[in-house]
Amino acid sequence: MLKTLVILFVALANTWATDYNALIDDQGIFMPCSEAPAGSLGPHDGFNFDNMVMSMEPEGIYVSGNMTVKLNFSISDRISARFSVMQYERGTWQPTMFNLHSPNFCKVMFDADQYWFKYWLKNIRNREEVREKCLKVKDTVLVYDEFLMVLKLENVSTPNLQGRYKAVITLEAFDEHDVRRPASFCAEIRGELERVK
Ligand SMILES: *[C@@H]1O[C@H](CO)[C@@H](O)[C@H](O)[C@H]1NC(C)=O
Ligand SMILES: *[C@@H]1O[C@H](CO)[C@@H](O)[C@H](O)[C@H]1NC(C)=O
Ligand SMILES: *[C@@H]1O[C@H](CO)[C@@H](O)[C@H](O)[C@H]1NC(C)=O
Repeated sequence: MLKTLVILFVALANTWATDYNALIDDQGIFMPCSEAPAGSLGPHDGFNFDNMVMSMEPEGIYVSGNMTVKLNFSISDRISARFSVMQYERGTWQPTMFNLHSPNFCKVMFDADQYWFKYWLKNIRNREEVREKCLKVKDTVLVYDEFLMVLKLENVSTPNLQGRYKAVITLEAFDEHDVRRPASFCAEIRGELERVK
């Protein structure tokens, strides 16, 4: 398995900053979820990344090009989005304090104080179109202005973050009666953190 090194900058809550090496399992970064919910679509069923370039360098991940939505939800659906970091401990995946949940993702996706925005969506060029269609309409193209995604954690109170992790990204759609659609989306990024000596 190929691993690519990206530096994770960690600022501790009270005192000084530490850096970690994030060794990311590199098979196109996004992988199908290892504990995928029934009926979930994997990364390449949900989006077409053929025109997107993601290049992992020590200073961060350079992103450019565009990606196309392959999901086909109804435009009136509510999308619930989650980003959860899990740590592999004593043989199982355990939740960590690093979680993000937006029950109505499409409503907040371009809010400046949202992490979705700060790390990802602020770099979308065709913002008006994406705001309207969100990630629900098949063949919507998300066009990126080239950017560097720097991995950074602030106000961390855990003294030692070393270990094996996965970040799980899920999208669920709910219809106008708030009934969950059977199809959902799940992708994960797996890697290891080691402290820089
Ligand atoms: C998406 O990327 C491809 C390849 O770089 C390019 O040919 C196409 O014009 C792009 N589409 C949009 C809408 O920018
Ligand atoms: C999208 O979903 C709708 C209704 O669920 C269906 O009628 C339509 O054929 C689908 N479109 C594509 C391109 O799969
Ligand atoms: C870090 O925590 C302190 C105290 O809880 C808070 O005042 C500050 O805004 C936080 N900084 C960030 C970047 O979250």
